[in-house]
Amino acid sequence: MSMVKKLHATLGLCLSLFGCGDDSEPEPAAFPEKDWPAEAASLLDGDDWYRHAVFYEIYVRSFQDSDGDGIGDIKGLTSRLDYLKELGVDAIWLMPIMPTAFKDSGYDVSNYQDVNPEYGTLADFEALLAAAHERKMRVIMDLVLNHTSDQHAWFTESRSSKTNPKADWYVWSDTPSDPNIGCGTASAVFGSSAWQLDSTRGQYYYHRFYPEQPDLNYRNPEVVDATLDVARFWLAKGVDGFRCDVIGLLYESAKECDLIPETRDYVKKLRKVVDEYPGRVIVAEPSNLTDATGYLGNGSDMFHMAFHFGFGYFWTFPFGSQNATAIVDTFQKSLNGFPPGAQDGLVIGSHDVPRAFSAAQGDDTRHQRAALIQLTAKGTPFIYYGEELALRPGSQQVVDLRDAARTPMLWDGSPGHGFTTGKPWIAFGAEADSFNLEVEKDAPDSMYAFYRSLLELRRGRAVWGTGEMEVLDTGTNSVFALYRHDDFMAYVAGVNMSEEDQVAELARPGLGQRAERVAGQDKLALGADGGKLSLPAKSAAIFRVK
Ligand code: GLC
Ligand code: MG
Repeated sequence: MSMVKKLHATLGLCLSLFGCGDDSEPEPAAFPEKDWPAEAASLLDGDDWYRHAVFYEIYVRSFQDSDGDGIGDIKGLTSRLDYLKELGVDAIWLMPIMPTAFKDSGYDVSNYQDVNPEYGTLADFEALLAAAHERKMRVIMDLVLNHTSDQHAWFTESRSSKTNPKADWYVWSDTPSDPNIGCGTASAVFGSSAWQLDSTRGQYYYHRFYPEQPDLNYRNPEVVDATLDVARFWLAKGVDGFRCDVIGLLYESAKECDLIPETRDYVKKLRKVVDEYPGRVIVAEPSNLTDATGYLGNGSDMFHMAFHFGFGYFWTFPFGSQNATAIVDTFQKSLNGFPPGAQDGLVIGSHDVPRAFSAAQGDDTRHQRAALIQLTAKGTPFIYYGEELALRPGSQQVVDLRDAARTPMLWDGSPGHGFTTGKPWIAFGAEADSFNLEVEKDAPDSMYAFYRSLLELRRGRAVWGTGEMEVLDTGTNSVFALYRHDDFMAYVAGVNMSEEDQVAELARPGLGQRAERVAGQDKLALGADGGKLSLPAKSAAIFRVK
């Protein structure tokens, strides 16, 4: 069966998103299947690989346990690479895997040059890299540079006296406040005061996050050198890049805290280090949730990508209000404001926010409509593990509230759900017997089938990664529509934000004459002035138009 026919079969059959109506209309003649120049593999070989890749975020602790201790580990993850490959994933992002005091799920690093023994060894990590590269998959890792754990040797030394060689590696003060630090507030992101008294040293240290996460002092050049060496250490091992944690916050200041000029200069140094190793990339977690432009520099001197949180963390509101305006605005901002060469990192969830299932208020069509935007808009998608199964939230808390979105992956219906033969470190999420890979794998209307089909549609088609994007004028704020095109192919994707049927007028001449539906049950009639897009309530569709 052709790829396109298969998509019809999978997506057109009875996905709730795409409706279950009468599909008896004759299908239009298909565009030739392979009339574009590059194959999937070569798109993923060049320096632009990250623009074409589908990324997948993994909490190693919750993905696959290999030794029965209930804690996911690197060997377990390695054994699941083929699952990811089959799903259509090209690159994985590992949440922190370094030794940690585990006060912030690994975002409190106690040694930058080793692997958390609960997850395995450096040798296990090297084996993972080799196994991934063998499959033409890439691996990036979390790099947490704003702070260390209070158990890190640097901090142990720094807190020991006011005169030790690392006395100035962290941010110290005689009083629990400093007008030049903390963005005009003495409060931490987690909890109350951002200043913690250290009784040995007799001074307060600054921590933007938990008290066990003292902030490094980047105004000390030794800290700059030491942290750049951390990047070199992992790049030399062959890691394909980094997701840079709260990277805009490195340098402290009185008011403007996000990406002040000194922080920008540091990022440029980091980029130079990364560029010494061919094909490596860095993606920013911006602290500015609505505008990541600053993180992208001139398009080639700072981050390769920055997460687009304006959509990724806020899509729930436009779907709630059934109004696409906020989505239109946020994508227009990146289209108009980004430097040439910059790339969005597109998410609909992460380890920091409620699961897509929860954000969608349990409405699969909302989850799928949001994911369809994520997977068709210009940018690189980052899928959070379990999103492809509509993983439900958990209720046990081991570290903090965010644990609800960090429960183990569900592979099957056995007591340990294929995740572990022991007792999982945290209880499984809700409905684990009904929504797991084994149940969803061959069910044509499952969330898994939805993801698998859309990832297959992306595979080998450069237009999704690097093609131009236009946000189409639809004449109604109930419908969001995109036009993606390059020299070889073009697609229109439309999403009905509302719970009523909609007909949108696409006021854009030159969309083509012929529309072939590749996902959804909906209609697009093209003419000289644009198109007429009919979308049933809560539905979405993708059409190939060239
Ligand atoms: C980032 C991480 C989050 C962590 C925080 C402090 O926002 O995504 O999980 O708690 O940084 O490191
Ligand atoms: Mg284990």
